[in-house]
Amino acid sequence: MKHVWMDVDPGHDDATAILLAIHSPDITLLGISTTHGNASSDWTFKNAARCLQAFGASSRYPDIRVYPGSTKPLLRPAKHDPEIHGVDGLGGVEGLPDAESPEVLRWFATDADGKYTRALDGMALAVKKAWNGGRGHKVSVISSGPMTNIALFVAVYPDLLDAVEEFVFMGGGVGLGNRSAVAEYNILCDPHAAQIVLDAPVKKTMIPINVTHTAIVTPAVHARLLSPNSSYHPNAPLPQAATNLRHTLSTLISFFADSYKSTFGFNDGPPLHDALTVAYVSHPELFRTIRYRVDVEVTGTHTSGETVVDMWNYQACDEHSWGAGAKNCLVAQAVDLFHSCILRGD
Ligand code: BDR
Ligand code: CA
Repeated sequence: MKHVWMDVDPGHDDATAILLAIHSPDITLLGISTTHGNASSDWTFKNAARCLQAFGASSRYPDIRVYPGSTKPLLRPAKHDPEIHGVDGLGGVEGLPDAESPEVLRWFATDADGKYTRALDGMALAVKKAWNGGRGHKVSVISSGPMTNIALFVAVYPDLLDAVEEFVFMGGGVGLGNRSAVAEYNILCDPHAAQIVLDAPVKKTMIPINVTHTAIVTPAVHARLLSPNSSYHPNAPLPQAATNLRHTLSTLISFFADSYKSTFGFNDGPPLHDALTVAYVSHPELFRTIRYRVDVEVTGTHTSGETVVDMWNYQACDEHSWGAGAKNCLVAQAVDLFHSCILRGD
């Protein structure tokens, strides 16, 4: 059983990561913090709570909460991505509860005075509690957005890093970008934060776009998601959704598919980037990884935000630690989609 904290910026694919996390039998979810990213921090905070409510978190996790985090990157101005996710981060998704409704507000972490408990405090408390001075469990920290909150956690709570099992982040690419020729969106938003996390003396796994671009929700998967018993015919219309949840997910996939088609020319469907972080934590055996030194270009005129993966071991790095001067990161190379339930649409 993995004890997991999630830091997210929902975001269509972040929403699928939340869905997978709350229903994965191999995961105990401790809480969710949110960051600026795909939309403003105000929206991503509300969206995480809307997802918990719509995806049925209350039966297994009535007590977990959502904690609002960074509103902007460490040094750069905030940047959002309405072209991909809509202005509110979950454009086109039907069936989510209203952001101001009581059923959404119930998920917000507040103190006795009704003030929001911030991400850093929520995360630190959850990690400390799970670790219980070494008698409890280590926590796997998942990041599926810009890593501002995680970098702050590293800087503010170095004493809690022993309690972190690993940082697993969706972001970066190996010689590949999506928001510039070489920079992936999450890293580009806050490259300085990403470098701080990469230098932390904690095991890390990076799920780059080279791998997430293989996890495509094709029309066949989409059809199966709508109605698990239907067989797919390329020219037939999609089946009717068997449940409200399936309808909600279908509208999510359709919007994301349209974004990816118009922006990147993906004709077969959108990549489920962020869900792979959860798949990795619960089933690492589905992934092939190689350990490298990874750094982030924070100043380059043409390459700012690029993850520089030292595939040829140009830097002399040790493999006994995970921080500065070490081969600091496992880099995912491939995922076995056939054995992964996400892309069977189950
Ligand atoms: C990443 O950027 C966002 O669009 C997605 O939510 C994902 O985390 C992919 O580059
Ligand atoms: Ca994301």
